[in-house]
Amino acid sequence: MSNATVAALPASKATVNDQIKYRSQAVAKPYFVAAIGLFIGQILFGLIIGLQYFKGDFLFPAIPFGTARMVHTNLLIVWLLFGFMGAGYFLIPEECERELYSPKLAIITFWVFLVAGALTILGYLGLPYNVLAHLTGNDLLPTMGRGYLEQPLITKVGIVLVALSFLFNLSMTLLSGRKTSISIVMMLGLWGLAIFFLFSFVNPNNLVLDKYFWWWVVHLWVEGVWELIMGAMLAFVLVKVTGVDREIIEKWLYLIIAMTLITGIIGTGHHYFWIGTPGYWQLLGSVFSALEPVPFFMMTVFAFNMVKRRRREHPNQAATLWALGTGVMSFLGAGVWGFLGTLSVVNYYTHGTQLTAAHGHMAFYGAYAMVVLTMISYTMPLLRGREANSAAAQKLEKTAFWVMTLAIVGITLSLTAAAVTQVSLQRLSAAPLSFMETQQHIMPMYWARFGFGLCFFTGLMMYVTSFFVTGKRES
Ligand code: HEM
Ligand code: HEM
Ligand SMILES: [Fe+2]
Repeated sequence: MSNATVAALPASKATVNDQIKYRSQAVAKPYFVAAIGLFIGQILFGLIIGLQYFKGDFLFPAIPFGTARMVHTNLLIVWLLFGFMGAGYFLIPEECERELYSPKLAIITFWVFLVAGALTILGYLGLPYNVLAHLTGNDLLPTMGRGYLEQPLITKVGIVLVALSFLFNLSMTLLSGRKTSISIVMMLGLWGLAIFFLFSFVNPNNLVLDKYFWWWVVHLWVEGVWELIMGAMLAFVLVKVTGVDREIIEKWLYLIIAMTLITGIIGTGHHYFWIGTPGYWQLLGSVFSALEPVPFFMMTVFAFNMVKRRRREHPNQAATLWALGTGVMSFLGAGVWGFLGTLSVVNYYTHGTQLTAAHGHMAFYGAYAMVVLTMISYTMPLLRGREANSAAAQKLEKTAFWVMTLAIVGITLSLTAAAVTQVSLQRLSAAPLSFMETQQHIMPMYWARFGFGLCFFTGLMMYVTSFFVTGKRES
């Protein structure tokens, strides 16, 4: 990196210190702070829609359910992307043993992404969706109106530019630096993320084709390329906190990504059962997706195995807990709850029910929210100039881990109970009830979900508070 770019870095003690190996890694910090801020927003909107499930006119007409739901899911994706980017900017220089190609570009990219994200959310909340679509050029190239991909065209273009800037910066760093399995898998995953996002611009008039390609973003992200990012981040933190030989960790990583790609790509077929695609997807989708839990299970075994074989006691115990938690919860949420509805003969009854929502919550939290929190837990103390947080701060962080994780278990179990009632009354019964009649029978479960949602929010507040707790250093 040129001296000019180094000089462009903020030189305050708060961002540059002797705990991080390369000064430019400090750019990760604002990304992580933004991720946590948006996470809080996501959960607040989760509580709003959770409440609207049994009090339908809550906040009506200011924030209708459809709008709040969109904000909830879009904030989720955006904060995870901030998390992945922060992780990339920290991990790649360290693995490549050199400064980031351009820290200045990373900071500019941060502000562009934050402002574009904030304007988009304000657009969702302040304008009727069709007006927003009209104002932002949806007539030129219609891309809006599909779950997770609701962003206006200009935001989508902005996301591509941000991703390009990020990938350019990291790829240039990697090209002239040390190449490790961890950094290569991370980069493969990040490039894949950007490439599959391009399918959000594909929006054929034919509804079958529309849904077909929609899953190339939604499914091939979470059950494909994001798993590579997750594996790399988990491996990175495990190398650091356990001191286990890189060769062992790398072998695991290769096995995990091979299994991910073997099962996950054709596994897309579990979304092609009822959308008008050829009948062979029933078999292909069922068989391959039934094997998708394997790489998630390997991640669990991997994390526990490495911690068991550890060669050092790292003072950051909270980061180790998050890493182990990610292993377990991603297997439960993606592997077990995903499997519950993945065989076409079962999916025929469970498709689009509360079982899907139960799985969506535990999988997104257990895999992606938790792996980002693992990375933040490991890196934030370093970015703030200490090897690990004080014992008191770690204690609160660990409590927050348990409160949030158990709250997600509660949300998942409430929604699974809701699904059992829904499927039996609406789909299996000899005299099926209508959708809305069935919903009346599920109300207690929605109350329970809201209660666990409040617990989750409490856990998140404890987590945020843990950043401000001082006290005697453990190391
Ligand atoms: C971390 C990884 C995963 C995440 C984040 C995730 C998330 C989701 C989400 C949010 C949905 C709902 C999509 C929608 O219709 O809007 C979904 C659907 C589905 N997922 Fe996953 N998933 C993951 C892994 C898996 C795995 C490993 C399996 C199979 C073993 C699986 C099986 C399914 C099935 C069958 C559906 C469709 C449910 C239906 O027909 O209603 N998922 N997933
Ligand atoms: C306070 C806690 C939360 C509450 C009360 C809540 C509530 C909700 C509600 C009511 C929906 C709409 C379901 C529907 O359309 O029928 C939803 C969707 C969703 N939420 Fe949450 N949520 C919470 C936390 C989370 C967390 C922590 C995550 C992930 C990290 C998450 C990820 C999602 C996803 C992926 C969807 C779309 C699921 C689908 O289409 O099946 N939520 N949430
Ligand atoms: Fe899928």
